[in-house]
Amino acid sequence: MQVPLLDLKRQHLNLRDELRAALGRVLDSQQFILGEDVRLLESELARYTRALYAVGCGSGSDALLLALLAFDVGAGAEVVTTPFTFFATAGAVVRAGARPVFVDIEPRTYNIDPARAREALTERTRAVIPVHLYGQMAELDEMLRAASARGVRVVEDAAQAIGAEDGKGRSAGAVGDAGCFSFYPTKNLGAAGEAGLVTTNDAAVAERLRRLRVHGGATEYHHEEVGFNSRLDTFQAAVLRVKLPHLDAWTGARRERAETYTRLIDEAGLSEFVTPPHVLPGARHIFHQYVVRVPATRRDALLEHLKQNGVGTKVYYPVPLHLQPCFADLGYKEGDFPESERAARETLALPMFPELTDAQQEYVVETLRRFFFA
Ligand SMILES: Cc1ncc(COP(=O)(O)O)c(C=O)c1O
Repeated sequence: MQVPLLDLKRQHLNLRDELRAALGRVLDSQQFILGEDVRLLESELARYTRALYAVGCGSGSDALLLALLAFDVGAGAEVVTTPFTFFATAGAVVRAGARPVFVDIEPRTYNIDPARAREALTERTRAVIPVHLYGQMAELDEMLRAASARGVRVVEDAAQAIGAEDGKGRSAGAVGDAGCFSFYPTKNLGAAGEAGLVTTNDAAVAERLRRLRVHGGATEYHHEEVGFNSRLDTFQAAVLRVKLPHLDAWTGARRERAETYTRLIDEAGLSEFVTPPHVLPGARHIFHQYVVRVPATRRDALLEHLKQNGVGTKVYYPVPLHLQPCFADLGYKEGDFPESERAARETLALPMFPELTDAQQEYVVETLRRFFFA
């Protein structure tokens, strides 16, 4: 049996005609830049994320940069974030001219440790970027309290977490000063190319974001500040508008698939070797990824075993950001963030997408069982 890590084709087949019609309408309108579909998508996504404003942009990476620029984070500023995330989180900080300050993760959720984030705040800190990794919201309360007391902005990296809620029922992207989303094709809500979005509850921030994404000029050829070009493509907006009404059903299916994996892993007696994702009480984890922890000494052999048996798998993220060559000048060294480094050695993702079948999941767990009990 073959079980891909992600199968986008199944989703596409169900929506093929609708998507083609939507793209055809954009083509006929000849409005390719910030067209009607972008405006409508922004209001639909503001409603969906329960933020007051949503501003589309070119990618999730740009969403982070736009948010930082909108909060005047630049040269001389420090931004506290996690080293266990996709590169773009810290890349945006450096692109803004600021300095990433890493703090370690909380090992059960792989999200930034809120107490460590609070302790890392200095008089130079301008922002904190908690990442809602794999689709579960980071614990924000302690960070929000400490940040607001110091005038520090909280920018949620919600690239992997559209529709996630924390234990208090708050929605990803609507809690901090801004939320940054990615619609990279493999995301739970995926475009047919690059696309991103920033959410905020502050009208002035939304206005500034709209200006920053068009070179910092609210009116054509008049520039109040220097922004850059990061507009949301109308074709991408049209695709996302077709998909958005299905997102809750897809998320529900992902959550059921995750429960099934966790049950099967337990029933197979694998709990000693395989630690399923930890879901915080009352949280709505949207399972962008289903990532398990296994002993570091067996992880790479397990990867190979899964691949050889037709099971898609991947390590997110094998090298924490503090150990990336491009950040050598920040002065971090191995051992600085033991939990992030351990997660990089011990985790791997199992196939996760809404259309995954029971038979496929049983096969994945049986393949795990054969590895550990052979
Ligand atoms: C946590 C995180 N932040 C930022 C990004 C950047 O998004 P994009 O690829 O749309 O630029 C991604 C996704 O790729 C991500 O997973």
